[in-house]
Amino acid sequence: MEKNYKAEQTVIPEKIRQMTAGRASRTDGTGMSNALVTVFDDCVLKIAPYRGRNEETVEVMRWLEGKLPVPKVLCYESDGVHQFLLMSKIPGKMACDEYWMSRPDELVTRLAEALRMLWSTDVAGCPRIRDIDAELEEASYRVQNGLVDIANTEPSTFGEGGFRDPQELLQWLRDNRPDYDPVLSHGDFCLPNIFLDENGISGFIDLGETGVGDRYRDIALCYRSLRSNAEGAYGGKVYPDIRSMALFDALGIEPDMDKIRYYLLLDELF
Ligand SMILES: Nc1ncnc2c1ncn2[C@@H]1O[C@H](COP(=O)(O)OP(=O)(O)OP(=O)(O)O)[C@@H](O)[C@H]1O
Ligand SMILES: [Mg+2]
Repeated sequence: MEKNYKAEQTVIPEKIRQMTAGRASRTDGTGMSNALVTVFDDCVLKIAPYRGRNEETVEVMRWLEGKLPVPKVLCYESDGVHQFLLMSKIPGKMACDEYWMSRPDELVTRLAEALRMLWSTDVAGCPRIRDIDAELEEASYRVQNGLVDIANTEPSTFGEGGFRDPQELLQWLRDNRPDYDPVLSHGDFCLPNIFLDENGISGFIDLGETGVGDRYRDIALCYRSLRSNAEGAYGGKVYPDIRSMALFDALGIEPDMDKIRYYLLLDELF
């Protein structure tokens, strides 16, 4: 759908051009999406394909201001094809930075702390609900419209020993809904979206899926992200000292591996 999207060729709205004029910048290559992220000295411009729910993301970001460390929305505009989000820059380093990856105990403690910060946020008035119904509804839309990129899934999900196709997985997810434990959920809780500095959690970014959702939505993605970053899955170093199961010790919980599996399978449809 958005494969041929070229954010580089878009015309940046005048107001944002003025707000960023003359500032040194660099393009960030971290994300896996079609977004073009330009990092300035104290702000960040994210240009992404326009999807109906973008305004909601900005609403969620504004609602979170003062509740959690999130980027402040400095300007948001859309031309119906692209969305332009100019936001404040979060200090610190991504949790997947070599600095934190080489400090496993501290990293895992911080990730657990980041999850607890989300869970202790009062969700009253949160402008977005991402409960299982909402997720399955969107997953169904994606399956019906051929938007699931099978090439981008775990090799074991589809094919021999796995699901025949996204439709079969969707049906399994509908038939095996776990109980629902609502909290504030980041929705894309992977290490590059969590920033840490010497004082603790310096910020949460990439809030396009943030809303009220199940506690395990974030636990599952955090666990997987910790594991894949430690295995060097994104071309980085391998960190044999990072034990992804240590996350549960830091959280003081017995992991519900079935629920983790459910949310990782659900994520395969996105
Ligand atoms: N407000 C910010 N402050 C500091 N760095 C940022 C900020 N926003 C983005 N970045 C940097 O740019 C990277 C990519 O941005 P982001 O995570 O928002 O996009 P993405 O993962 O490509 O997109 P998406 O998940 O929305 O499809 C981040 O991992 C981070 O390194
Ligand atoms: Mg991201």
